Amino acid sequence: MATDIGSDPILEIVGANKVFQRAKADDVWALKDVSLSVRRGEFVTIVGPSGCGKSTLLTAIAGLSRLSSGSMRVNGVEVKKPGADRSVVFQHASLLPWRTVRKNIAYGMEMQRSPGKSERRKRANWAMELVGLTGFADSYPSQLSGGMKQRANLARALATQPALLLMDEPFGALDAMTKGRLQVEVSRISQETSQTVLFVTHDIDEALLLADRVVVMASRPGRISKIVEVRRPRPRQEDFVESPEFIALRRELRLSIHGMDSDGAGTGVPAEVADATA
Ligand SMILES: Nc1ncnc2c1ncn2[C@@H]1O[C@H](COP(=O)(O)OP(=O)(O)OP(=O)(O)O)[C@@H](O)[C@H]1O
Ligand SMILES: [Mg+2]
Repeated sequence: MATDIGSDPILEIVGANKVFQRAKADDVWALKDVSLSVRRGEFVTIVGPSGCGKSTLLTAIAGLSRLSSGSMRVNGVEVKKPGADRSVVFQHASLLPWRTVRKNIAYGMEMQRSPGKSERRKRANWAMELVGLTGFADSYPSQLSGGMKQRANLARALATQPALLLMDEPFGALDAMTKGRLQVEVSRISQETSQTVLFVTHDIDEALLLADRVVVMASRPGRISKIVEVRRPRPRQEDFVESPEFIALRRELRLSIHGMDSDGAGTGVPAEVADATA
């Protein structure tokens, strides 16, 4: 099934700058002149070396930190603080240990003071079913595996039905097998719910497997260096990873990020070093 992507942007970033001032050291340009539009229903991944500003960008979109200058709009409204139109999933599941899975999922909706109690219950059930946690509704976080905790975290975010789901390396702390399973699930869920997603990762294969577009960032200053389109319909099957299209895209991304292709051959100059000396 082809991905149903609207033409209207959910997210519009224009000329975003974020500068961190440091005592007795040069300022850090975590973001410099970053512009990006994300359309309704689109799945966009962001890759780049450590420290290139991926989390800074996501945190600003979430409204958890302010830009130094530039503009960010979600559904046409300037981002000034966190809001019900955005939900964030971080690397470590931030579940409340004294609440069951069901009540943790309800918590996200309670924080937004909407919807009513019976609708919250319905949505929690819907979200638990989506992520495959229905049998664990009454379990506490300490009774869940790492993968299940991240499923609950995702369900909590989905239950608020955000216009934009923001994910910052959500599977970064999981073992390879659990990570692979959750990638497939996120791909299916985003497709089923037409959820617009902005997903940060440093895993190129993950970025390609999930995305309609992969945004590549470079560091010093943090900026967008390339955007690659992945035309294969979502959700993608395992065979996509072995396709010539995937292998060519992976090579292109590796060269762009590390200055190195999939066989380890390349310019010999890592992109970060090349950036710093440019
Ligand atoms: N609160 C802060 N104060 C000062 N500098 C900061 C702050 N937060 C981030 N930075 C700097 O901004 C730059 C971008 O950091 P950011 O965390 O966005 O990188 P990242 O791409 O998410 O890296 P990683 O892949 O390691 O998570 C880095 O140089 C970092 O040191
Ligand atoms: Mg980060």
